[in-house]
Formats: sequence, structure tokens, C-alpha cells
Amino acid sequence: MISENVIEKALTELFANPGFARSPEGLYDPLRYMIEIGGKRIRPRLCLTAYGLFRDTLDESVLQCASALEVFHTFTLIHDDIMDKSPLRRRRETVWKKWNEDTAILSGDVMCIDSYRRIANAPASVLGDVLVLFNRTAAQVCEGQQLDMDFEKRKDVTMAEYLEMIGLKTGVLIACSAKMGALVAGAPEEACDRLYDYGYLLGLAFQVADDYLDAYGDEKVFGKPIGGDILNAKKCWLTTRAFEKADAPTRARLMELLDSEAVTDEQKTAKIEAVKAIYDSLDIPEDARGEIRRFSDEAMERAAAAVSGLNLAALKDFAETLIGRNC
Ligand code: IPE
Ligand code: IPE
Ligand code: MG
Ligand code: MG
Ligand code: MG
Repeated sequence: MISENVIEKALTELFANPGFARSPEGLYDPLRYMIEIGGKRIRPRLCLTAYGLFRDTLDESVLQCASALEVFHTFTLIHDDIMDKSPLRRRRETVWKKWNEDTAILSGDVMCIDSYRRIANAPASVLGDVLVLFNRTAAQVCEGQQLDMDFEKRKDVTMAEYLEMIGLKTGVLIACSAKMGALVAGAPEEACDRLYDYGYLLGLAFQVADDYLDAYGDEKVFGKPIGGDILNAKKCWLTTRAFEKADAPTRARLMELLDSEAVTDEQKTAKIEAVKAIYDSLDIPEDARGEIRRFSDEAMERAAAAVSGLNLAALKDFAETLIGRNC
């Protein structure tokens, strides 16, 4: 087993010097900017944690794979912020806002390519499996992001459709992170698959929490603008659950509000507050907290099928930190 402290230290070192090229600066500066600000780094942390369930020391190949997951994730964020017109990320200006959209597209592209360069360092014995997993995951994230955008224009998104969408845009990469750590450690196939399920369910919990914080978080802590999902008419968990739960007049009012134009800051604030008042009247925030807990409990059931004792405790700690997050 590898301790949390050792993993934490390895992550700090890994991203203090991310190893991107220097020139042309217009292409590579945004990569360094996003990686060095640093997010929560949950995907590489999970990869190393899963690896540590089967090994006692970290080696270069798993560190490269862990960094590939963070680099790929950060690439998706750079493009996501263009798609969601979001001006703030990790408490700083987003790449498209600080530079421009063209830069965000191209720097994002090269970041995706860079993640494959890192993945190529997986041990030869599992490189094929790791590549298949990573490729499939990368395509699924794009599929999820497309559904997320398609749903903005739809009024009839069901909870099942919502869950499929977040499973793709968020669940699979967290699942892939857990499985990749286990694969690189040479764990048995059954354990790799249960760890994938654990990561997938945690990913669902994580995205529901993200949707909740998007409306109810504190911008200074969350590091992203509050109310962005409402302004974009996203079919987030809160909206989807509200549509399920509301009576016909409330549903109509919520639809009308989400469709309404908000241009000035005052109009935006009023729109966000009006939608949140409907969520509050339906007890949606409490439902969201219950759903996050349910997914996390389910994740732990899958974990218990893979490991036990101290290893299971490490996965429990990871899950609790993830769902207890306020950013
Ligand atoms: C943001 O991911 C996108 C979602 C899947 C909700 P994170 O919340 O992990 O972002 P960072 O990496 O910590 O900034
Ligand atoms: C993004 O979901 C998921 C991916 C980037 C693939 P969100 O759009 O909710 O993520 P945030 O809230 O901007 O981080
Ligand atoms: Mg998005
Ligand atoms: Mg977004
Ligand atoms: Mg979000």
C-alpha cells in the first residue's frame, strides 16, 4: 500500500514541472497556466490510490499515466469553458477569456495530444489495454459533452437521460482513472473492473455535487461563476429533478424562466434567484444531497467487491473527500 502523504507529494512534484514545450509561447503558455494553477487533481490522485492498493512504491510509468489523466481532463475543461461561455475556472480567468477562443481551441488540442504522449509510457505488458481504455474514455467524454449541449435546447430530458449524459461526460474519466491505476499495477481483471464501477459511481456523485454547487456554492471557494448552469439552461441534476417533481404550473414557470433572456447583471441575478426559489420550494437541494450520498454508498459496495481492510478504508477516504467537497 502507498500512503496518502506519498501520493500527495508525488502529485505536487509531478505538476510543479509539467514538462510542456516552451515555444511557440502562444500555444504552450495556456497549458502551463491551467496546470500550474492546479485544480483538485482527483483523477491522478485516484489513479495513484488504485495503483497503491496493489503495490508498495510508485514508479515512473504510473506517474506518467496519472499525469496523462490530469492533462486530458484539463484539455476538456479548456474546451468546456468555450462551450459554456464560462469566464472563470480554478478562481482565475479561463483560457478563452484571458487569450481568445482560437488559442483555447488549439492549446486544448495540443494538450489532448500531450496526454497520449504520456500514456505511451504505460508498461509494455498493459499498454494495449491502457490505450483501448483511454481511447474509449476520451470518445465517451466527447459524446457526453455533445449530449450536454443537445439537452440545453430540450425541455423533456428524463433523469435516465441525464444520468447517461453525466456518466459519459464525467463518470467514465473517473472510472478510467481508477481502472488505469489498477491495470498498471498488474491487478487481476475482476478487481480492475470493480474499481472501474467504483470510479463511475463516484463520478456520478461528483457531477451531481458539481451541479448543486453551481447553484448553491460560494464562488470564492468553488472557483467558478455561480448560476452558470441556470443562465445556460443546462439540464443539470437540479433542473431535471425539479421537472420530475413539480406540478404542471410550476413546471411551466420553470421552463419559461430558463428560456427567458438575461442580459444585464441585474437580470442575470434575478433569473438565478427566481430559479433557485423554485428549487428551494421543491426541496431539491436536500434531494441532491441524498442522491450524492446514494451514489457514493453504491460506489463503496463495488469497492468492497474488489478489496478489503486498509485498502477499502483508503477508497472510503477518497470517496468521502470527494463528496464532502465544497469546491
Ligand atoms: C470539473 O472537474 C468538471 C467536472 C467534471 C465537474 P473538477 O471539479 O475535477 O475540476 P478541477 O480539475 O478540480 O478544476
Ligand atoms: C464538464 O461539466 C464536464 C467536462 C469538462 C467533460 P461542467 O460544464 O459542469 O463542468 P464545469 O462546471 O464547467 O467545471
Ligand atoms: Mg459543460
Ligand atoms: Mg462548464
Ligand atoms: Mg458544472
